[in-house]
Amino acid sequence: MSQRIPKDLIDDIHQRVNIVDIIGKYVHLKKQGANYFGLCPFQAEKTPSLSVNEHKKIFHCFSCGRGGNVFNFIMMIDNLSFVDAVAKVAEFGGIPFDSYRYQNHSVKTVNVAVQKVLTFSQAFYHHVLEHTEIGDVALNYLKQRDILPKTMETFQLGYAPDNNLLTESLQAASDLSPDAIKESNVITSTETKTYDYFKDRVMIPINDENGDLVGFGGRSLHFNLANEPKYLNSKQSKIFNKGNLLYNLNRAKSEIVQSHEAVLLEGYFDVISAWQAGLKNTVASMGTSFTAKQLRLLNKFTNRLILVYDGDAPGKAAIDKAIDNLSKQKNLEVLVAPIPGGLDPDEYIKKYGGDSFKKLVQKERISKYRFRLDYYQENIDLKNEQDLLNFVRRILSKFSDLKNDSLQREVYLKELSQITGISLINLQNQFNQQVAKENHINQRLIKNDLAPVKKQIDNRFERAQRELLFLAFNNDLFSWLDEEYHWTFPNSDYEVIFELFKQYYEDNQGQVRFYEFLNILPSDLVSLATSINELDRPTTTDKKEVAGLITVIKKEELNNKIKKMQDKVNLYQKLGQKSQLDESVKQLIKLIRIKQQEVS
Ligand code: UTP
Ligand code: MN
Repeated sequence: MSQRIPKDLIDDIHQRVNIVDIIGKYVHLKKQGANYFGLCPFQAEKTPSLSVNEHKKIFHCFSCGRGGNVFNFIMMIDNLSFVDAVAKVAEFGGIPFDSYRYQNHSVKTVNVAVQKVLTFSQAFYHHVLEHTEIGDVALNYLKQRDILPKTMETFQLGYAPDNNLLTESLQAASDLSPDAIKESNVITSTETKTYDYFKDRVMIPINDENGDLVGFGGRSLHFNLANEPKYLNSKQSKIFNKGNLLYNLNRAKSEIVQSHEAVLLEGYFDVISAWQAGLKNTVASMGTSFTAKQLRLLNKFTNRLILVYDGDAPGKAAIDKAIDNLSKQKNLEVLVAPIPGGLDPDEYIKKYGGDSFKKLVQKERISKYRFRLDYYQENIDLKNEQDLLNFVRRILSKFSDLKNDSLQREVYLKELSQITGISLINLQNQFNQQVAKENHINQRLIKNDLAPVKKQIDNRFERAQRELLFLAFNNDLFSWLDEEYHWTFPNSDYEVIFELFKQYYEDNQGQVRFYEFLNILPSDLVSLATSINELDRPTTTDKKEVAGLITVIKKEELNNKIKKMQDKVNLYQKLGQKSQLDESVKQLIKLIRIKQQEVS
């Protein structure tokens, strides 16, 4: 059995290696004042924005916002898991580390109590779909989409009615804790009341790779209504993080291992229909672009991937982008099965049948090079000189990984020569020049699929929250914030960081080391937390100043709520939905009253 790396061992490594030495192996660092500076390896730049603080044991880039401790640096730059990064740092420091013991320890993010609430909700939605009259509308919808009852079972599909019955049922269940109900995000609250988060939607449970239920996707039955997303997914949280998930991986992983390949689709219903058609090694990216975590997840089970995205223009653009992202993972072969007629997999199956789709995926797949030769020729005229030159340059710039494969290189350069009428010799020269140029750039810029840095919105509301979090990192404010304010951050990222920091603070009796705290954060929040900790502001202990920040946050939050409610009122007015309109007007008046009270 593998186990979690002991805290003492991690601490020992932190103490025995010097972050400046380790980052110095990748980046040329120069001392300037208290910190070391160098060119940030995560972006192209000419003036150094990467700073490394030997004493605080963290790095931070002022330009791209990435930051963290020494393990985070290695995870980012070498696209490694936490355990592998610890192993590598230990090796740099000459510290014995048996990574094998810890290798497969998957960290459970969902605690048992929350899991219980999610499972309860899944059973509720499923029951409503299958056994109640209210569910008929969704049952008909699914039938009309050719989904069979057996498939509804397998995927535990459900229906969320628009009557707040889930909220009532959860609150009535004696064995579910109120905190867990809140954390599960299946309900949501305003100042005045609590209600179901998902309303009038077909519910698709989403599990992590181990099969633990982590959230839901909800398909609107009539999404062309203004202002309503086609799919509403569980709120991003510690538990549900789209970037760490691939839909259906829990069911598909054994098929993926057996077939030696994974089929990557975009949507929930694409996967469900493909499964029904007998193609079971499929997962969906849920409409987002690839993260390093998802790449590692896939690479654990296979090193061949077939992209089967929508056949329309956005779908093709998404394939083009995915090929770039996937190329950053070593040992991953990427193929494409283009769908004709602008259809998505689900529509194709509905129109031509499951067997035809399986055949398309298995027999009509092409290499990523072939895909680009076709795709980049769309909407241009090769008889036009400019189009022709742009086309050749664009293709060559995307073909550089052919440098290690002489066979494929010859095939595709010959093809390019035929398409363009440019001689093979000439293309080969261009290709070699291109590769030489890239090698030069690569020495400095390490290409990798990095988790995107969470965007920091720069308005008063967000800034005040960041400052408050900074003060919480640097002062003992927890009990005061709790007692005075029952404090929670409106921004869910800040709230997750805050809660985890509080937990860390309590576990360590107030002995906090920020670089150590970073080890318990989800990796997509590490850079954000680091940049907040590096804010250039005094670490005041003046409670009045803290209270001032809280006032700003609350005021702005209320203004946001009023604005949102105003939008709702306008929408319902336009749609002529009387009862919803009345309800929103009531809510709006309440919010405005609260605001007036606070001003006076
Ligand atoms: P699509 O817009 O292609 O929808 O989004 P779809 O899968 O074809 O949906 P159906 O067949 O009309 O029901 C692809 C995927 O992107 C995510 C979902 O995972 C969806 O399946 N998505 C899309 C969202 O999360 N939210 C949205 O509002 C839209
Ligand atoms: Mn579809």
